[in-house]
Amino acid sequence: MPMTVRRFVRGPRPLCVVTAYDYPSARLADEAGMDAILVGDSVGQVVQGYPDTLSVTLDQMIYHTAMVSRAAKEAMVIADMPFMSYQASSEQALLSAGRLMKEARPQAVKLEGGSRVAETVLRLVEAGIPVMGHIGYTPQSVHTLGSGRAQGRDLEAARRVLTDAIDVEAAGAFAVVLEVMPFRLAALITSQLHIPTIGIGAGPGCSGQVLVWHDLLAMPDLGLRHSRAFAQIGEAALAGLVAYRQAVTDGSFPTEAHSVAMADEVIAQLEREVPKQAPDA
Ligand code: KIV
Repeated sequence: MPMTVRRFVRGPRPLCVVTAYDYPSARLADEAGMDAILVGDSVGQVVQGYPDTLSVTLDQMIYHTAMVSRAAKEAMVIADMPFMSYQASSEQALLSAGRLMKEARPQAVKLEGGSRVAETVLRLVEAGIPVMGHIGYTPQSVHTLGSGRAQGRDLEAARRVLTDAIDVEAAGAFAVVLEVMPFRLAALITSQLHIPTIGIGAGPGCSGQVLVWHDLLAMPDLGLRHSRAFAQIGEAALAGLVAYRQAVTDGSFPTEAHSVAMADEVIAQLEREVPKQAPDA
């Protein structure tokens, strides 16, 4: 049964979410039984090779999300709103989210920030657009949050993260990502909310988990603390590419069996028609 926002909120638990950015990956994620596929703006780092997510554009998110939407039959598709597609005003957010929903066909959008984006969340929800919140470490604020990723470690900071969670829920978000925060804080937040919390680097006490495609499949293996390499696809891909190059170099690939046959008389006639090759000097 295809996942809907309503079912996502009410159960099953724990929820399992993965990011994907293209059709073949999303097909695999769907077949693996993911509850949702997040088209994250992490595409900027893991696909485009930027050091952060800031350069990702709304057009790029539409492009990637449309591919994922075409693949997902059961999993719900959630599209990230990229940096500066919603921060200027609620109107800007509505226009950006509207384009994502109309042109790329996800079931929901995600945006970063807690209390400060509550008004924007409300505006989108009132327009009929389901919104997932994202608090704790918010990668689009990389330059204000600094190098330390963990958020909410001291009492004051923990109170702020809890307030962020309560405010995005009150604004109408159907779920909220908790990124890189103490697992006891994440568990406390989860116990206080009625909507599911989806953790990444936030411990086992969340309602569900999300991981980035390239991290969990080790493409490459960055040894990230908050992730785990569930398969060594990067290594397998590299071995495959090296073997391909070797086979082309040593002439073992392709063979005639990798092409198609032609009738003897056709090639014989063609050979008679072409000029004879001059012998090499
Ligand atoms: O962009 C992304 O992949 C995300 C996840 C890390 C939650 O926002």
